[in-house]
Amino acid sequence: MGRPNALLAGPVGRVDAREGRTYRGAPGRGPGGANARIRNVSIELLNRRFLVAATLVTGLAVLQGCGGAYPQSALHPASDFADRLDGLFMQIFWWAMGVFVVVMGALAYTIIRWRERPGATRPREMHGHALLEVGWTLAPALILVAIAIPTIRTIFVVDRPPDEPASLTLEVVGRQWWWEFRYPELGITTANEAHLPVGRRVDVRLHSADVVHSFWVPRLGGKRDVVPGRENQIWFTPDSVGVFWGQCAEYCGTAHALMGFRVVVDDSTTFDEWVAAQQAPATPPREAQARAGQGVFMSNACVSCHAIEGTVARGVFGPNLTHFGSRLTLGAGLLDNTPENLVRWIDSTQTVKPGNHMPEVALTEQQVQQLVTYLLSLR
Ligand code: CUA
Repeated sequence: MGRPNALLAGPVGRVDAREGRTYRGAPGRGPGGANARIRNVSIELLNRRFLVAATLVTGLAVLQGCGGAYPQSALHPASDFADRLDGLFMQIFWWAMGVFVVVMGALAYTIIRWRERPGATRPREMHGHALLEVGWTLAPALILVAIAIPTIRTIFVVDRPPDEPASLTLEVVGRQWWWEFRYPELGITTANEAHLPVGRRVDVRLHSADVVHSFWVPRLGGKRDVVPGRENQIWFTPDSVGVFWGQCAEYCGTAHALMGFRVVVDDSTTFDEWVAAQQAPATPPREAQARAGQGVFMSNACVSCHAIEGTVARGVFGPNLTHFGSRLTLGAGLLDNTPENLVRWIDSTQTVKPGNHMPEVALTEQQVQQLVTYLLSLR
């Protein structure tokens, strides 16, 4: 607005001056009209610049979604269940794309074809075009039917219990704010990291120990609520080996957002090795530092909440730590399971994961180091 002349020299200004027309809201004729016109032209230019900037920013933001590694993207399915959901999503996406192109095309055509031009006469107004009315009522209805049929079919397919008994049962217990995983046929209890064999159907049974949670591994299937007092189920067959991120998807209290987990899909040999290792009790620590750490664990509050098979620790309130050292993460998918992170976790668990039910036990630096060595030796 500070440079009305420069702005006027632009194409908009020139056209405006030549045609001698005014923009909406400007006083048409008489004294003051020219100034108002300059003001409106510059506002228009500013608006246009804002529009260009907004379009660029939005475009970049949208493109941003196309790249990068997103471990929780449902767009890279890795099981039969996730495949079906992805297929359905893509069908609906292309229908929506078609609608977008048709509507925007019609809009652009209308804007260009019937834009205001010098000397143009007022277009004829039209009321009640039977063919158009029927067309734009029927077309959306047909599109909705075309979307509804595969949607309903998918719901029934993914919700149908498998005919053959599932080859593996995984019992999931949602807790504030971590996940317990049990394998009833294999006698394994672990936490926050489930292992599954590739290509074998798994029957996931969902329970809650407290409030409503929601079990969701985007790349392996749709989310399912975990409701206290009832058992929900999902079934799927993982089709590729890898580490898949899961997340509680139902607000369940303070640390809901930090209630993650991992599902590791192994080839059958690796899975069998994992099972054998998990079925064994904890290896007694040999090294002095780890032995001292075991002493710290057993003589502090740790022992009342956590279980370590083969020791006196029998707590059930917190995650079972029998093979804690073999896990990829700690704090329910929150941090990589490294010595540094474990120190942080024990020292200031309420800062790392505010609200979680683990108290900060007063330990010396040396005791923490011993504890970390012991816990990570539990492989
Ligand atoms: Cu558990 Cu949100």
